[in-house]
Amino acid sequence: MSTRRAFIVGASALAGSFLFSSLSGNAASEGQGGTLRTRVIPSSGEIIPVIGMGTSGSFEVRQGSAQYEALREVLRRFFAGGGTVIDTAPTYGNAEDNLGQLLEELGLRDRAFIATKLSGVTGRDEGLKQFNSTLRRLRTDKVELLQVHNLRDWKTQLALARALKEEGKVKYVGVTHYLESAQDELADVVEQTRPDFLQINYSVTQRGAEKRVFPLAKELGIAVLANRNFDDGALFRRVQGKSLPGWAAEVGITSWAQMFLKFALSEEAVTAVIPATGKPDRQSDNLKAGLGPLLTPSQRAELIALVG
Ligand SMILES: NC(=O)c1ccc[n+]([C@@H]2O[C@H](COP(=O)([O-])OP(=O)(O)OC[C@H]3O[C@@H](n4cnc5c(N)ncnc54)[C@H](OP(=O)(O)O)[C@@H]3O)[C@@H](O)[C@H]2O)c1
Repeated sequence: MSTRRAFIVGASALAGSFLFSSLSGNAASEGQGGTLRTRVIPSSGEIIPVIGMGTSGSFEVRQGSAQYEALREVLRRFFAGGGTVIDTAPTYGNAEDNLGQLLEELGLRDRAFIATKLSGVTGRDEGLKQFNSTLRRLRTDKVELLQVHNLRDWKTQLALARALKEEGKVKYVGVTHYLESAQDELADVVEQTRPDFLQINYSVTQRGAEKRVFPLAKELGIAVLANRNFDDGALFRRVQGKSLPGWAAEVGITSWAQMFLKFALSEEAVTAVIPATGKPDRQSDNLKAGLGPLLTPSQRAELIALVG
């Protein structure tokens, strides 16, 4: 660990010991009083809200369509509720174009923490060409996080992302995957390269990240974005017709979506979750998972038994 990072991790941990409960050791605030819970990016000490949003599928719609108009409200509610972190990729159809256009129209670019990717490209030239196109599509001159998507060509693409960070066009670098079967490889790459962020799948039914990825992130001081918190919607089908556990109200939970997001956030290695929706009411629902207490270990175990 570099001296600088060791200092920042140490400083964050110290702040943590003053401010946070044992359930949320890397929290900067605990989601009280209608304010979203926040957590710390270990490599810098910057604080981000724990509820982010994804754009795969949900933002891949035709401009001018009813779904596109709904996205305007999805974004408005997200920022009004305290959200900032938005995950996208150049290979999510026209999601980057729609996101860039809407953020510009709503005057929200400066408040957004945009996480995009080097995706499906091979070699430095292809990667750079794609990144420059991403900046145009997002209508910006820099992004907050540039991730190597699904570890494709990761040595070259991570080196490129780091060079762009040096140039000030990228604030943080990261690596991503979304499959249980790729978690060992992701852990190996993270161990070897120590990026600012990693992104991995994590949900009630997909808990492989608990084995190596999360302990490593905590040990090395790497921020974690957890994707597929609803297992791409499959979790809702599993609980169809089932009532929420009796203790849900005690932790401020009124929907299964909030339950699944709080499950992911109760793992302290997770810095933020990035659920995707194109529906304003669902966005409001998801944001509520950033308020109030998290789940206790026994509540988590009960949920796994109920849903897993
Ligand atoms: N390798 C990678 O880097 C990688 C891989 C996968 C995903 N990701 C990122 O992670 C994000 C999330 O993953 P994901 O989109 O695959 O799946 P997800 O967030 O687990 O699930 C999305 C599904 O849940 C539904 N949904 C959302 N909020 C809901 C709510 N409150 N109540 C009921 N249903 C709700 C959505 O439907 P509606 O849209 O109809 O509301 C959609 O069908 C992606 O958008 C992407 O940004 C990254």
